[in-house]
Amino acid sequence: MSDLQRIEHAKLAVTDLEDARRFYTDAMGLVERGETDGTVYFGRGYDSNFDLAVTEGGTGIEHFAVRAIDSAAVDGYEERLRDRGVDTARVDGAEPGQRAGIRFELPGGVPMEIVAVEDEAYPHSNVSATDRAGHAPSAVDHIQFFTPDLDADLAFLRDAVGLHVSDLVGPRDDPENAFLRCNTLHHDIALKHKPELSETSLHHFAWGYDSIEHMKLFLDTVVGRGADFERGIGRHFAGDNLYAYFWEPGGNRFEMCAEMAEVKTTEPNHVVDYETATTAWGPGAPESFDEGSGLASED
Ligand SMILES: [Fe+2]
Ligand SMILES: [Fe+2]
Repeated sequence: MSDLQRIEHAKLAVTDLEDARRFYTDAMGLVERGETDGTVYFGRGYDSNFDLAVTEGGTGIEHFAVRAIDSAAVDGYEERLRDRGVDTARVDGAEPGQRAGIRFELPGGVPMEIVAVEDEAYPHSNVSATDRAGHAPSAVDHIQFFTPDLDADLAFLRDAVGLHVSDLVGPRDDPENAFLRCNTLHHDIALKHKPELSETSLHHFAWGYDSIEHMKLFLDTVVGRGADFERGIGRHFAGDNLYAYFWEPGGNRFEMCAEMAEVKTTEPNHVVDYETATTAWGPGAPESFDEGSGLASED
């Protein structure tokens, strides 16, 4: 088992903070976990941790974090990255509930954190926050970027951070997609090559659901209340997960995800092309899928 668990949180920029706040709480059923200096924190309500932080001004990813098993593991990753010449900064306690953390940058420009949290409890449905809606997502699932240099980001995440590669898509010596995992779920971070970009752009932030029934209930609740439905429901071949995609009113794409495969081999699988990897059944990618929401500058 890896010392890294899963995606812990992401911070995104949104065009209108109040529109976004209303959608996340009233429509999605998330729970507000605090506000500091213009950043608002939201969680699923199964524990006291936040899953999504947002700040007003533009769109896109500001940073994302994966959870380490404890503070000692964070220290271990700090040493590992420094040994490999990577600049890291401590962010202990910089965000609510974060016991320890380090921050560094992917080659494509996205800040990434490895954090340990104060509330390590596993979910108990009967003691979740009372203002958490029953249709709210169950988990933070994964994140996908358009990157101008897939080879560099892939090599960094695999060799410096130590993530496993689950799937490579396209030519083996020049992949167009890569799926990387912290632990056993098929992907925590997915990369799509887009060489015309000068910096990384957020493609989607994905939430986890218990079943296709849960996804249906969520969609019935949020579409028409701020969610702009884009694609799905279908099944991806790479990762085997059920998917649906929508744009949230803040200007970023969210994915809904269920049934992601577990992978326990060290050798990457290979899928011949993007269409095969992304469409086991259901609709292919619409033209709008070629858009990302960008990279937000740090405060
Ligand atoms: Fe963070
Ligand atoms: Fe995804």
